[in-house]
Amino acid sequence: MKKKPVGIIMATTMMMLLSSACGSTGTPASNGTAPAPKPAETKAAAPADKKISLGFAQVGAESGWRTANTKSVQDSAKEAGFDLKFSDAQQKQENQIKAIRTYIQQKVDVIAFSPVVESGWDTVLKEAKDAGIPVILTDRAVDSKDTSLYATFIGSDFVEEGRRAGKWLVDQYKDAKETVNVVELQGTTGSAPANDRKSGFEEVIKSNPNLKVIASQTGDFTRAKGKEVMQAFLKAHKKIDVLYAHNDDMALGAIQAIEAAGLTPGKDIKIISVDGVKDGFVAASEGKINFIVECNPLLGPQLMQAVKDVVAGKEVPKRIVTKEGVFTSEDAKRELPNRQY
Ligand code: AHR
Repeated sequence: MKKKPVGIIMATTMMMLLSSACGSTGTPASNGTAPAPKPAETKAAAPADKKISLGFAQVGAESGWRTANTKSVQDSAKEAGFDLKFSDAQQKQENQIKAIRTYIQQKVDVIAFSPVVESGWDTVLKEAKDAGIPVILTDRAVDSKDTSLYATFIGSDFVEEGRRAGKWLVDQYKDAKETVNVVELQGTTGSAPANDRKSGFEEVIKSNPNLKVIASQTGDFTRAKGKEVMQAFLKAHKKIDVLYAHNDDMALGAIQAIEAAGLTPGKDIKIISVDGVKDGFVAASEGKINFIVECNPLLGPQLMQAVKDVVAGKEVPKRIVTKEGVFTSEDAKRELPNRQY
């Protein structure tokens, strides 16, 4: 399999395009909703000499991806000369809501956040709108029907990531005559990447009835849970052919469980994962992960640009989609020295 274009390039697409591309991401509906709040209707644009204040409510520190994403946001805010207020919600929605309310009280210029789960944001987003503070979603979507509650959503197409994982599997087993038993480690329950990576994968693998998902459980995007759940899968199922992990960290935890069970990851059990962080690349270059679907965490520069544009009253696209690639073990070997995170 050949490496597809590696993604650092970001493309912008308008909402209509997104609504067909992103399925259940909680993607904005394209009709019948009010437009995003324009700064003219919100707070007065910040004077040129005043530092822009940005409140960022991060999901947590659950994975290598998240660490890289946090660093990208913090470094880019510093470079842009913003006053960044940063909080870590430890994967709890109530903590993120609290942080957003604090930013509203502090009257920041813009609020940005990566919603831990898709649902349950309308009330707090309405509070921000009523206070005249524009909100930018990064990385993960919300399922709010009222798209006027946020200015833009910057991040990956998680359904497409799931499809890419599924395509590799379909291709690998196109000549299989017997059932191929697949186990799945899902991300955080209710999160956009868990919902969408699952649905995109299922959409593609159903073309081959030999591909059977025999177990699917959350590993909460962490190494420790990935290991624990994989141990349980190995106990419960005699024959596991493939592991599909929704991120590298869970795949890395699962690799420990597979090795402890006396099996060889990448051979006895083929592994597909998502992200493409350095540790994932190392495992892939050693042949322990067979295929990685890239998810780019370096969203900071685009977020800061969007913040500047929103504060300046410029139009911003409702959706900014990250372009990404895929990597086989061979690709990972080649690309490892260049990996930034
Ligand atoms: O939302 C992006 C996902 O969150 C990453 O794939 C995962 O590693 C992270 O925790």
